[in-house]
Amino acid sequence: MDKNTVLEISDLHTHFKSKEGTVRAVDGLSLSLYEDEVLGIVGESGCGKSVTAQSILNILPKNGKIVSGQITYFNKGQSQEITSLLPESKEMRSIRGKEISMIFQEPMTSFSPVHTIGNQIVEVVELHRDDATIDARAQAINMLELTGMPNASEIIDAYPHNLSGGMRQRAMIAMALSCHPKILIADEPTTAVDVTIQAQVLSLMLDMRNELNMSVIIITHDLGVVAETTDRVAVMYLGKVMEIATVYELFDSPKHPYTQALINSVPKTSGEITKLVPITGTVPNPYNIPAGCPFHTRCPDFIPGVCDEESPIKTNISADHQVWCFKHADEKKQEN
Ligand SMILES: Nc1ncnc2c1ncn2[C@@H]1O[C@H](COP(=O)(O)OP(=O)(O)OP(=O)(O)O)[C@@H](O)[C@H]1O
Ligand SMILES: [Mg+2]
Repeated sequence: MDKNTVLEISDLHTHFKSKEGTVRAVDGLSLSLYEDEVLGIVGESGCGKSVTAQSILNILPKNGKIVSGQITYFNKGQSQEITSLLPESKEMRSIRGKEISMIFQEPMTSFSPVHTIGNQIVEVVELHRDDATIDARAQAINMLELTGMPNASEIIDAYPHNLSGGMRQRAMIAMALSCHPKILIADEPTTAVDVTIQAQVLSLMLDMRNELNMSVIIITHDLGVVAETTDRVAVMYLGKVMEIATVYELFDSPKHPYTQALINSVPKTSGEITKLVPITGTVPNPYNIPAGCPFHTRCPDFIPGVCDEESPIKTNISADHQVWCFKHADEKKQEN
């Protein structure tokens, strides 16, 4: 099957400067996003998932900077190099919101507290509609209805703080999708809501994706969410992708010891007993990422003199499955 790439990240390095030193939050990340797919980005806290999203949208905090690498957005045969655009340039603002939209863990991040949600959604619709005769308010109500918001025509005049957490999530999704983006990035979209609303929000996002033909990046530390919603999964550790595969292959035959440890750490219910196997060791200090493979300090398959000295190269397990690990480098040699 021929897949069209909508976003390509190559060898991205995003750093933060602070009094304590430099954090290599994203440290040589490469990733492709295909048309109409749901890609999961998974990994422990602090591995650079949110900074990857901020880099794509060019919304890094002041002390953060993309120091090298490319992020290319492809649309209708054109390509746009995002990393070469200034954050507040006209081109970047047009991509952000119109082409690539984001929803956050905490909806209040998206909304201004002093305007009604309707006015905020209408503003997005007006900014991005091609036809000025379109009734932006009617379209905003329509968008809210699509998210399953009850009484959308009344809710539109409410302020964000008047809504419950679940309703705010819906309003945020309505706002993010009002411009019909090609790419939706959802950063931990469900961690702030309870399990029932979580399931509703995820199925809503997937319905909207079918309706609007978008690609979706779901950022999460929850492997259950990954298993239920994604087509492909990238596993990140300390700013790098360790393994990428279709969701089926990742769970069926994880190759990287880190992926295996992550999958093993999920509680398994066997009879009455729930088993949790924690990953040994702790994530190294982000100011001082170990040389070689960043996971080697915790890896059960650590090869001294190799894993602590050289950066692992990519091994193709199959067309849709790549792993960066010396344990599998030999398999490649045998293949060649
Ligand atoms: N503004 C900042 N200044 C300094 N360091 C930062 C800043 N933002 C993020 N970092 C650091 O960058 C690294 C990656 O952070 P990031 O927020 O991307 O992690 P994450 O994978 O999204 O984690 P979580 O699952 O907790 O959301 C961390 O070490 C974090 O402390
Ligand atoms: Mg995060």
